[in-house]
Amino acid sequence: MSNNATATLPCDIKEIGLADAGKRRIEWAFQSMPVLQTIRKQFIKTQPLAGIRIGACLHVTTETANLMVTLRDGGANIALCASNPLSTQDDAAASLVRDYNIPVFAIKGENNDSYYSHIMAVLDHRPQLTMDDGADLVTILHTKRKDLLPGVIGGTEETTTGVIRLRAMAKEGVLQYPIVAVNDALTKHFFDNRYGTGQSTIDGIVRATNVLLAGTNFVVAGYGWCGKGLAMRARGMGANVIVTEIDPIKAIEALMDGFRVMSMPEAAQIGDVFVTVTGNKNVIAREHFERLKNGAILANSGHFNVEIDLDTLGRMASSRRQTREFVEEFSMRDGRKVYVLGEGRLINLAAAEGHPASVMDMSFANQALSSEYMVQNHKDLEKKVYPVPEELDKRVAKLKLEAMGVKIDRLTAEQEEYLASWSEGT
Ligand SMILES: NC(=O)c1ccc[n+]([C@@H]2O[C@H](COP(=O)([O-])OP(=O)(O)OC[C@H]3O[C@@H](n4cnc5c(N)ncnc54)[C@H](O)[C@@H]3O)[C@@H](O)[C@H]2O)c1
Repeated sequence: MSNNATATLPCDIKEIGLADAGKRRIEWAFQSMPVLQTIRKQFIKTQPLAGIRIGACLHVTTETANLMVTLRDGGANIALCASNPLSTQDDAAASLVRDYNIPVFAIKGENNDSYYSHIMAVLDHRPQLTMDDGADLVTILHTKRKDLLPGVIGGTEETTTGVIRLRAMAKEGVLQYPIVAVNDALTKHFFDNRYGTGQSTIDGIVRATNVLLAGTNFVVAGYGWCGKGLAMRARGMGANVIVTEIDPIKAIEALMDGFRVMSMPEAAQIGDVFVTVTGNKNVIAREHFERLKNGAILANSGHFNVEIDLDTLGRMASSRRQTREFVEEFSMRDGRKVYVLGEGRLINLAAAEGHPASVMDMSFANQALSSEYMVQNHKDLEKKVYPVPEELDKRVAKLKLEAMGVKIDRLTAEQEEYLASWSEGT
């Protein structure tokens, strides 16, 4: 139920009265975002987004709030909705509306109808630039609001799954404007997907269940950037980590990183906690549910809630009930209990707070700089998915190191010449 009685902007949020708490937490996050702070100062001076309408569909967190404020201070006129029904922080949404004058359409726990109506509300803002996380906004724009496409100059995309969807659209010749794949910046996925997802997924599982991970068989499905971080952090908690993969190279990598690797049907029989981070569908399905131990816990940290086949699990269960806020118990007909966390949605955002601000600092620095780049360069770009320019990526890394007070060496002229030559160095 939304209560926007004292909100002055168009918005749909849970409760404007949460704004005080949201503001304090947004300020707390900002302290750990020094790169974004630097960009914000530059944006205030240079106004690179002056008069540009941005439609943003991102997880509505305190870190996102700081990105929104940075874009606003760069001259943009923004509307924001959520990129997942369970990832909104209602206090941050309230503060964005009340304290920062940014329209937000997002309520934690909203149903599908409300989720899509909020995307529509952001599209009603007639964005010239889209900023998406998972490509739902772009998809709706290209299917239900085609009339708006001529006014769009470009966009940015935050996550792996979104980039995959957009590349598929470009390949089919459907994509109608250029998009920068922020996810593919090294200063994004090396850190956000790996260390951010690694830590915050464990945080989500622990907050939801309060289980002791030490000594458990912890199954990580997918050894990509997120999976590597998660496996590393689960090992740090004392779990026996098992990796499942479909890519033989990633499987060898997991083995040589010291993890057990096996197929999901094998892992299903011995796992205590399972987390999918593949970006794929039905990774845990009927044949696996049939083998699970009593008490197995299933969670997902991939973008969509399709990685665990919950419809089939629901049909296989004789009853289900909510045992804790983000824990649903499925009672199987043979007496086993299986627990699903956070409705199979991104557990780090559903039950915890998503990635820590210091890692979102780099991801969102890339977002801010890529928006500026798109405004400056869209006329020269085709209707394709583009990487973040290398110089922007390097700039983000340099600013982050400076903020961390870390100095690194520089190539000498002699070394530069050597690296550019055929010489063996004598
Ligand atoms: N929770 C978060 O906050 C968060 C953050 C970043 C990315 N993501 C999402 O997480 C997902 C993974 O992202 P990534 O950057 O690690 O992608 P990635 O492409 O680096 O890794 C995915 C891995 O899953 C493997 N895989 C695919 N199908 C599989 C299957 N059936 N069984 C086992 N392994 C399988 C692939 O071979 C690949 O190694 C995406 O949906 C992405 O959008 C979530």
